[in-house]
Amino acid sequence: MVIDPLQLDGRRLPHGSRVYLRRPMLRDRAEFLARQAASRRLFRGRAAPLTDPRVFAAYVRRVHQGLTAGLLVCRIEDDAIVGCVNLSQIVRGPFQSAYMGYQVFEPFANQRYMSEALPLVLTVVFRHLKLHRVEANIQPENLPSISLVTGAGFRREGYSPRYLKIAGRWRDHERWAMTAETYRDVSRSR
Ligand SMILES: CC(C)(COP(=O)(O)OP(=O)(O)OC[C@H]1O[C@@H](n2cnc3c(N)ncnc32)[C@H](O)[C@@H]1OP(=O)(O)O)[C@@H](O)C(=O)NCCC(=O)NCCS
Repeated sequence: MVIDPLQLDGRRLPHGSRVYLRRPMLRDRAEFLARQAASRRLFRGRAAPLTDPRVFAAYVRRVHQGLTAGLLVCRIEDDAIVGCVNLSQIVRGPFQSAYMGYQVFEPFANQRYMSEALPLVLTVVFRHLKLHRVEANIQPENLPSISLVTGAGFRREGYSPRYLKIAGRWRDHERWAMTAETYRDVSRSR
């Protein structure tokens, strides 16, 4: 099992965890690109698969420069990359906020891997990065994504018409967010 010490100490993973988080490395290229390509249908209308090796290299560079907190969701039993989460546009100062994007890869969808990963990601957001807020923008018909963030304790803050251009169309999004205060309350009640 490979645990990136920057993210989470393996010994502190919740009992029964099937996944851990680590930063992407250049040597992940073949598996990462293959999983993205295999997930084309799952991502349709929701996210653009990353299949260009140069874009992958630029992504890894951004992560290692600290511009994006890129997290691979890996399966403990065999280290397979089952998904990824990106915390981007991390703004400090009085805002202390980031945007969160995420994807599970085929053939791992609908197996609750991302539901298990999200609490680990929130540990990174609020304990490691010490942010005050994290926001996820979700298309209203993306029910798995809405269930995912609702289950983690995010609140729907608003609705943004024609917010993001995905697959050539401007698409409405709901804005879901969690603050450090909510995170504290949710963590205490679990
Ligand atoms: C959203 C996504 C990350 C969820 O990952 P996942 O590992 O399959 O999710 P999980 O198995 O942990 O399930 C999450 C929730 O979705 C629910 N769900 C799954 N399929 C569903 C469906 N068709 N309709 C409604 N809810 C559904 C699950 O029941 C679970 O909710 P629950 O905890 O209330 O039972 C995944 O669907 C994905 O990557 N989609 C394509 C890219 C994308 O949409 N990214 C997010 C953009 S905002």
